[in-house]
Amino acid sequence: MLKKSKSRGLSDHQIDGERQGEVYASDMERVEGKKRFYIESYGCQMNFSDSEIVASILHEIGYSSTGNMDIADLILINTCSIREKAEETVRQRLREFDKIKLKHPGTIIGVLGCMAERLKKKFLEEEKLVDIVVGPDAYRDLPKLVAEADDGEKGINVILSREETYADISPIRLNSNGVTAFISIMRGCDNMCSFCVVPFTRGRERSRDAYSIVAEATDLFDRGYREVTLLGQNVDSYHWSHEESGESVNFAELLERVALVDPQLRVRFSTSHPKDITDQVLHTMAAYENICKYIHLPVQSGNSRILKKMNRTYDREWYMERVESIYRILPDCAISSDMIAGFCSETEEEHQDSLSIIEWSKYSMSYMFFYSERPGTLAARKYEDDIPLETKKRRLAEIIRIQQQVSYQHNKADLGKVFKVLIEGDSKKSAQHFKGRNSQNKMLVFPKLPGLSAGDYCHVKVTDFNSVTLIGEVFVQEKIHA
Ligand code: SAH
Ligand code: SF4
Ligand code: F3S
Repeated sequence: MLKKSKSRGLSDHQIDGERQGEVYASDMERVEGKKRFYIESYGCQMNFSDSEIVASILHEIGYSSTGNMDIADLILINTCSIREKAEETVRQRLREFDKIKLKHPGTIIGVLGCMAERLKKKFLEEEKLVDIVVGPDAYRDLPKLVAEADDGEKGINVILSREETYADISPIRLNSNGVTAFISIMRGCDNMCSFCVVPFTRGRERSRDAYSIVAEATDLFDRGYREVTLLGQNVDSYHWSHEESGESVNFAELLERVALVDPQLRVRFSTSHPKDITDQVLHTMAAYENICKYIHLPVQSGNSRILKKMNRTYDREWYMERVESIYRILPDCAISSDMIAGFCSETEEEHQDSLSIIEWSKYSMSYMFFYSERPGTLAARKYEDDIPLETKKRRLAEIIRIQQQVSYQHNKADLGKVFKVLIEGDSKKSAQHFKGRNSQNKMLVFPKLPGLSAGDYCHVKVTDFNSVTLIGEVFVQEKIHA
């Protein structure tokens, strides 16, 4: 399995066991009367975004955050169920939390998110030291559940909602670089892809009030943020209507409203569904320089029979037409993808179709997985998980190899080009270098110049590259002409 680095990014959503690195209070000991919570997040960006809502709810009842679980009164883990391995990682972390609870018996341990929703009260039976189990739509109940846990009672709320969007809650940004932030624009998913557990853990799709989204983007911009990523499992089916006026807003219109907050605010979004992405969205992207030219368009398989079995509701030809439209309307757009190797009954020829669509689509990068059967999904109920693990792994390795070659070529084509880059901070390896992304979501690393800091835009000329990063230098026009 391809593992991405631990940096923040559009990509965190497909990483099993990826952990949010917290940087909080420097305090090192428990203080009487001062309540602290510690939170770890796994899974997709929606979960990371939800943790910021949870932080806000806990802040309201007097909790402050800490990055030191040893001094926390409340330890929370926001969990993911997407693949078996994601759940295994959570179980392993719970063993660590158990040790703390044995040292400090008053500590409350809470499990949030998709695994809480999937396992419900079974979780309390299986994990004896867990006190509270809270599903993704029930975070407003946390104050009550935490108070009850303080009195020694175990608590659970896994009720899914058709309305909850937490629109009125101002998230507390955790682990923020002060430049880029996520905004949840919708929750749940109605798609029922046969392999996927998300519709069961996150419930029905609902869209958030467009005005509250624009207000959140405006507030972030006023506080110095320069990039927002609009989040949803299927952003193209965003649809919100005002109850009284009847005014309705689709995704293209929402994108435009957010782009109009300020030309200096970059707008990204994730995830697009190939069946739903419209030309209206592509034309809106073309019309605004600050809407980033990058689309995450997961294909899952390159073969039409498998796509049908996956219930993706498009076939290879439809997908290829959408990719052609993207490159026609947005010639400088980068496209990335998700791919699943070894889905039920996949033949070698069908697997070859997945390899060829990677080359044909020229993805800048992909998140690649082997199929992991999830209990309760349509595939688990109807199809046999009949591809041996060894075969799944071999096919995945072939997919990764092809994608690496395609990514390398993609980056090679950028050599010598000049990109507008939003500086996100110091590069991981050196304090003498900045890192930042271009519109196409590629990370660039380049030597610092005086006068530039995080949150600034600059132009960077690409002088070198590897398969994941572009290396460059700040492009100063005078220098070039001298
Ligand atoms: N809403 C997004 C994806 C969310 S889940 C979309 O429709 O594209 C992120 C990715 O995890 C999926 O795109 C898929 O590639 C992968 N995934 C989901 N369920 C999986 C499973 N059972 N086994 C392996 N990979 C899976
Ligand atoms: Fe899962 Fe499909 Fe919904 Fe994505 S669109 S979250 S893969 S059911
Ligand atoms: Fe995982 Fe739930 Fe996201 S299953 S990928 S955390 S929606």
